[in-house]
Amino acid sequence: MSNLSKKRYTITSALPYANGPLHIGHLAGAYIPGDIFARFLRLNNKDVVYVCGSDEHGAAITIRAKKEGITPREIIDKYNKQIKESFEEFGVSFDIYHRTSEPIHHELSQEFFLNLNEKGEFVEKFSEQYYDEDFNQFLADRYITGTCPHCSSEGAYGDQCEKCGTSLSPTDLINPKSTLSGKTPILKETKHWYLPLDKYQPWLEKWLIEGKKDVLKSNVFGQCSSWLKSGLQPRSMTRDLDWGVDVPLKEAEGKKLYVWLDAPIGYISATKQWAIDNNKNWEDYWKQQANPADNSTLIHFIGKDNIVFHCITFPAILHAHGEYILPENIPANEFLNLEGDKLSTSRNHAVWLHEYLEEFPGKQDELRYVLTSILPETSDSEFTWKDFQARVNNELVAILGNFVNRVMVLSHKYFDGKVLMGTDHNATDLAALGELAKFPEQITQSIGNYRFREAMSQFINAARLGNKYLAEEEPWKVIKEDPERVKTVLNVAAEIVANLAILSQPFLPKTAMKLFEMLNLAPQAWQNAGRSDLLSEGHQLGAVQLLFDKITDEQVEAQLSKLAEAKANNAKVITPAAPAKANITFDDFVKLDIRVGTILEAEKVAKTKKLLKLKIDTGIDQRIVVSGIAEFFKPEDIVGKQVSILVNLEPREIKGIQSQGMILMAEDNDGRLDFVSPHTSIVSGSTVR
Ligand code: 2FM
Ligand code: ZN
Repeated sequence: MSNLSKKRYTITSALPYANGPLHIGHLAGAYIPGDIFARFLRLNNKDVVYVCGSDEHGAAITIRAKKEGITPREIIDKYNKQIKESFEEFGVSFDIYHRTSEPIHHELSQEFFLNLNEKGEFVEKFSEQYYDEDFNQFLADRYITGTCPHCSSEGAYGDQCEKCGTSLSPTDLINPKSTLSGKTPILKETKHWYLPLDKYQPWLEKWLIEGKKDVLKSNVFGQCSSWLKSGLQPRSMTRDLDWGVDVPLKEAEGKKLYVWLDAPIGYISATKQWAIDNNKNWEDYWKQQANPADNSTLIHFIGKDNIVFHCITFPAILHAHGEYILPENIPANEFLNLEGDKLSTSRNHAVWLHEYLEEFPGKQDELRYVLTSILPETSDSEFTWKDFQARVNNELVAILGNFVNRVMVLSHKYFDGKVLMGTDHNATDLAALGELAKFPEQITQSIGNYRFREAMSQFINAARLGNKYLAEEEPWKVIKEDPERVKTVLNVAAEIVANLAILSQPFLPKTAMKLFEMLNLAPQAWQNAGRSDLLSEGHQLGAVQLLFDKITDEQVEAQLSKLAEAKANNAKVITPAAPAKANITFDDFVKLDIRVGTILEAEKVAKTKKLLKLKIDTGIDQRIVVSGIAEFFKPEDIVGKQVSILVNLEPREIKGIQSQGMILMAEDNDGRLDFVSPHTSIVSGSTVR
């Protein structure tokens, strides 16, 4: 297994923006896979540093700060703390969880910028960029949205469409809008420093496409080749923003580094800080060594939307710098959906980790287990609460928990918790132990190929083997006539438990600890998995502990109602009003003749769902108006109601009826209609202006 054969590894998981709490999609994207991999390597005595931290710059932070009405500093402090705690609770075993707001990070990012600048790697360019005149701000990245020119999806950002992953420039967007004012921005000239990705294209093709076609996951390879095929463009590495790392040049005063320049350098600055704290040499983990065989193996765990930055931009930066190692692999995951819908922070359609921890205390491994079993490794996957319940109850409780519990309880009941040896191993025992011995290598292969779902299912199969062995040997029956045989059966079973303890370590850290405690055995390295002599004759087992208990229907219902409630609340959330239309003159306005009218009669227009035929007293006359309000109002409820009516609209024929004028209606974001009516009764024909 080539990617497990090295001695030193630098493992990274994407730095989450410190602009909100984490949800299950984050765990399933970059953190569970990274953590399993890092834990696995450590168990194999590799020299590993696993780094992460908060991404605390860029528009993601400042926009959030504006929304919450607090400063960017308050935002990053708040969410950095919350995110860090969630990672700790779920046992994500970073060696350091750092922050890009730390001075050591600013310094290193500036050093990178200057290094490339001095080498003449940047192309300096004046260009016209979008600018919001109301807010006096240039609009880059998340400050501008529009339609993606590649996949046509709405809401693409100025630097990337998260839907198709393509990296964009604000000027690529169709129908661009400022996220500050909602208006169409103007163009204004500014200077920026561009990374000429076009210049690196031949190198990238060689390094990535030719060099990595056999190692990259197909989803990653596919995206990268398609971007390279469409030709890379220079990308600006600086921004006109007031939050971020200062561009370290006099002539660039007030400008900041692009967040996607500084964020991945955050992996390196985190390693630097860790090295200081732990008396290590950070360069061992990042710099090219005199003997390339001594280079660390760099692996980036990320979600789909980060592929372009980790496969193209950051490697190009590292390459341009020249002293650094390049990633060996970038095993990106696709997206996780929730109950048939995309996870969404803004719509609150998510399972938030801090809430899960409160609602399912102590059940971190249950979520780790289920998420690992459904990781979106090759395509998007789906989390549902019913499936969560089924996997916990039918697999963790019924297979793993049940097996371990029976071994422990019976050993205590019959032999005071001692592991004894009775009759010699028979053919069944040897077959079971032989099967057991195959799992470590299978799991190794799966983890080595970033197939964590497969690895997880192999692990549960090992527990299944134990359960089946016990069910067939029935020690609870045999004890009456052959206690010597039962000693052996429980010995074999205890060896299986000891193997499960070792094998569970990369996946289920809390469970692994409990298993070792129950076994009264020190945690073991991976190389001991597969052995059947882990527990010596006469070994005293520890006390029985409950590993898992069932997820109840009520718990599932509660979660589903919570999601339904979020959906309902969401419908009430006032989404920003549509931007104003172009100005008109007062003369244009006074052309509209709007009056207060009174509805005299109302009836449904036959064979239509939406239309009502209204007879209106306009004060001028009584006239017929056809109005598309039938979905919201019953005819009998609106007779006598006063409304606003545009009386000088050219008459139109609607469903064979001559409609003379238009009732003015207020329409909300969901298309719900209501009348624009006078507050008190007023004589029909009164003007509205
Ligand atoms: O997409 C995100 O959440 C980014 N904050 C990921 C950054 S990864 C790295 F490069 F820092
Ligand atoms: Zn797109």
